[in-house]
Amino acid sequence: MQVETLVVVPVVLVAFVFYLTHNQTGLPRVGKSGPFGFILTALKSITSFADLLDEGLNKYGSKAFVVPTMAGSLIVAGPENVDLFKSSDDTAINQPISVDESLQLMHTLNSRQLALPFQAVVVRTDVTRAISAFIPEILEETRLAMAEAFALPFGEKSTTLPLFHTMTHLVARISNRAILGPSICRQEQYLHDIIRFAETLSIYGQLLTWFPRILRSPVYFLLSSAFGGPKEPARAIIPHLKMLLAEREQGLENAKTITDFLINLAPPEEIADVKLLAMRVLSVNFGSIHTSSIFGTHALFHLATLSESELDTIRHEIIEALESEGGYNKASLAKMRILDSTLREVGRFYALGVVCLNRVLIKPASLVDGIVVPSGYNITIPLKPIHFDENVYPEPYKFDCFRFSKLRASDHTDLKYGFTTVEKDFVPFGLGKHACPGRFFASMELKIMLSHLLLNYDLSLPGGAKEAPKPIFFNSHVIPDTKACVILKPRVGQAGQDL
Ligand code: HEM
Repeated sequence: MQVETLVVVPVVLVAFVFYLTHNQTGLPRVGKSGPFGFILTALKSITSFADLLDEGLNKYGSKAFVVPTMAGSLIVAGPENVDLFKSSDDTAINQPISVDESLQLMHTLNSRQLALPFQAVVVRTDVTRAISAFIPEILEETRLAMAEAFALPFGEKSTTLPLFHTMTHLVARISNRAILGPSICRQEQYLHDIIRFAETLSIYGQLLTWFPRILRSPVYFLLSSAFGGPKEPARAIIPHLKMLLAEREQGLENAKTITDFLINLAPPEEIADVKLLAMRVLSVNFGSIHTSSIFGTHALFHLATLSESELDTIRHEIIEALESEGGYNKASLAKMRILDSTLREVGRFYALGVVCLNRVLIKPASLVDGIVVPSGYNITIPLKPIHFDENVYPEPYKFDCFRFSKLRASDHTDLKYGFTTVEKDFVPFGLGKHACPGRFFASMELKIMLSHLLLNYDLSLPGGAKEAPKPIFFNSHVIPDTKACVILKPRVGQAGQDL
């Protein structure tokens, strides 16, 4: 071992320990007491964050408390603060800095994402307005991609696939039909690189927050050199951007993809440097792939546990929607209420993690119970008291694909219980001005994928299991079991097939 290593490692460790034990919030905290207790609890939070959250909720109810994490003290505020967070204008309880910090965008993409977040504007405006135009393309890509992904092994009548991996590949390809167009979304090397990028970005973000700031750059360099980063998918994106920009120079532009929308709104310095523009394309990819593949997988695992007659009810509703509205369009997707209900139930039951509305305190803020929380800390709200409140959601621990479609039918309301309708009792997309602008695109894409799959394939879990596989917890995140499989069998000659 070199002398420098012998000096640097202990110094870094001491600095790290000091950094982690620095809890001056004045709030009670969960876990073991004392500085080493803090570290041990922070380590435990990697795999058992939800248990620590439960401990805090049991001990302190809706009063604010601290959970030690590897990134330092995380303040957990009671669910009655949802409206306060929703109406925050980012001056004290700030969202963009929190996203930048948790994903470490200054390393994993670049610092312009925080300074000028125009891709969020593009998704909120152009992408949402273009949903009807995207439907035929998303449908075509879904048909082609599923036919390839679900091809039967020679001589077999069904195929067994690891679902999360398969969904991620499908979502990457189908989303990129809208993001970059057909010439790129079918390139296997690009799909491999963009999936790797989307999957590693949030892991890198988490890992980097475990290190003192001074070490994050070299650590990121090592991680991305070993496991990949934006450079690899950008190899396909950059020449495509150059081609689009050259076409514009010749007056040939024909804005059809999300990348075209990004070019329309990009500042001149990003048009002049396509590497910067490529980061925007990557940012939209991250927002789309990572989230929709998780939701689609949870939904399919639960659909696979339903009885044949329940699945037929869903298929019947899909066929009726398509026949009455003349095929796939906004109106027919809106009529697929049970699929919509299943997706909303995924948002309630799993969301993307066990907390919501992650923010950073850039000024001290007064919570609704009068407690003042100090600046400089991350703050969040636990989902359990919201999404598992039995006064709002009877039998909250039961996953019910039909929960919201039944409510819609009994209340004769269309919007209130919809997948994309956010409210203080349903927050998987956040709330307020930062509520996910991509949720309308995600809903359209996922409903096309799920309906096409259900009409064309029978699906079940291996061994006829009637319980969805348990999800995996990493810090505050929840993802589907990555190894669990589904069995898919083509429904040859069945009603509604390939409508
Ligand atoms: C099921 C799928 C999705 C889920 C669960 C989801 C969830 C979220 C959440 C929780 C936030 C943060 C909200 C907050 O802090 O208050 C967010 C923000 C965002 N999402 Fe999504 N998302 C999904 C799909 C998408 C898609 C498909 C896109 C792009 C096409 C997208 C683009 C964005 C953008 C740009 C933001 C940042 C908004 C801002 O900061 O103002 N999302 N999303």
